[in-house]
Amino acid sequence: CLWVRNLRLKRRLPGPFAWPVVGNAMQLGQMPHITLAKLTKKYGNVYQIRLGCSDIVVLNGDRAIRQALIQHSTEFAGRPNFVSFQAVSGGKSMTFGNYSKQWKMHRKIAQSTIRAFSSANSQTKKAFEQQIVAEATELVEIFLKLSAHDKHFNPAHELTVAAANVICALCFGKRYGHDDVEFRALLRRIDKFGETVGAGSLVDVMPWLQSFPNPVRTMFKSFKIMNQDLFGFVQHKVEEHRETFDPEVTRDMSDAIISGIKSANDSRLTRDSAEGMVTDLIGAGLDTISTALHWILLLLAKYPEIQTKLHELIDKVVGRDRLPSVDDRGNLTYLDAFIYETMRFTSFVPMTIPHSTTSEVTIEGLHIPKDTVIFINQWSINHDPLMWKDPHIFDPSRFLDEKGSLDKDLSNNVMIFSAGKRRCIGNQIAKVEIFLFFAILLHQCSIEKLASEDLSLNCTYGLTLKPLDYKITAKLRGELLINQ
Ligand code: HEM
Repeated sequence: CLWVRNLRLKRRLPGPFAWPVVGNAMQLGQMPHITLAKLTKKYGNVYQIRLGCSDIVVLNGDRAIRQALIQHSTEFAGRPNFVSFQAVSGGKSMTFGNYSKQWKMHRKIAQSTIRAFSSANSQTKKAFEQQIVAEATELVEIFLKLSAHDKHFNPAHELTVAAANVICALCFGKRYGHDDVEFRALLRRIDKFGETVGAGSLVDVMPWLQSFPNPVRTMFKSFKIMNQDLFGFVQHKVEEHRETFDPEVTRDMSDAIISGIKSANDSRLTRDSAEGMVTDLIGAGLDTISTALHWILLLLAKYPEIQTKLHELIDKVVGRDRLPSVDDRGNLTYLDAFIYETMRFTSFVPMTIPHSTTSEVTIEGLHIPKDTVIFINQWSINHDPLMWKDPHIFDPSRFLDEKGSLDKDLSNNVMIFSAGKRRCIGNQIAKVEIFLFFAILLHQCSIEKLASEDLSLNCTYGLTLKPLDYKITAKLRGELLINQ
């Protein structure tokens, strides 16, 4: 009867006992995504935890996550009203803003801008690829310099600068280079961005931590300053673009966004919206790409026998007289498989950005009220032993079928760009960027670790998982090919 049905729907979600004040915050540990995946054994794929003053529903596993994000896409398209989210992009962030008409318009303009500068036609596609090739070859030269006399170096910061140069060139038509001291200093601070906005960040669930001295308050203060600095940097560039704007010529993404906002002609989109959107794109295109490359280099150095296989393949397909290009991708399937396995194995964006429900919804028979914070555990899909044989082993060949082609069904099962209404809008450019950087570095160099060191796969948790500092050396393979 209706009464029993309602009672069942209103059944409290399963979940661990929550302590007063902190809830389950102290149980999350250093790697919350792994702790949250382990809790499924006791509570199932959809359960509730309490962090500080927030009740949070955690979604794990392919079925529950896709059911929520795809079948109930609108209900799960919100973002919580977290303090850290309000500090991003001058409070005008599309990425961290809630589901609304304004968000829809922002997202549409951002999506068409990305398309216009990466894949709209063969000319823009070529220009985008050329940009990456130029950065990748410069990176090769820097790596070789840093490796002179067999020196070993930490590649992290150079990778951040290279990724920043690509996204800055797209947004502002200008790169800032490995030698610009001010820009490099800004990038060093942005590196810490993900620590504060990742799922489980304490300042968001216990905002009262801001009211007395403690490490969370100190971290949040520097987070706010870093966001203001990045936003200020972008504001200055976008203002310059406005002053020299010519509706006949769209020079770069900033121009495209300014013009997109003008033609939307909607009072909800203000001048600051353009600055917010550009800051979002820079932030999103920086940390993710550099982290992906950071893991790729670590895995190359850690598994030299895989690297040798990749070298043999690239020499066979591309040869030694030219650099690899995007057109080679179809013939470099093992390389593509290596990228998919890096995304699966490291799951370097382990949880999506936190979502919230825009209305009440029932998932796997469990009722979730409106405005509930939702954590989505991408790592749990990528490490589900029912989906992947030996999920804790790094093995790119798992993505190849018996003919050596990429198994599309399997590669589509990797979840790192999320799904549904909030899925990443940069996934296509990200894949091209990672492929080209990786292929060019591999073609030109071999990457080696110190013989005495066994590189650790441990990492730090945040919006992205970052490897611990490590050192490598790069050795030139044959002749150095400069951007042709
Ligand atoms: C959102 C992953 C690169 C732009 C996201 C989200 C993930 C993600 C997990 C959150 C989705 C959610 O909350 O459900 C990645 C990965 C990347 C990457 C793994 C690289 C390997 C990029 C790039 C750009 C970009 C290069 C653009 C230049 C965005 C934007 C959003 C987003 C604008 C916010 C979407 C929204 O809230 O509606 N990305 N991303 N991403 N990404 Fe990416």
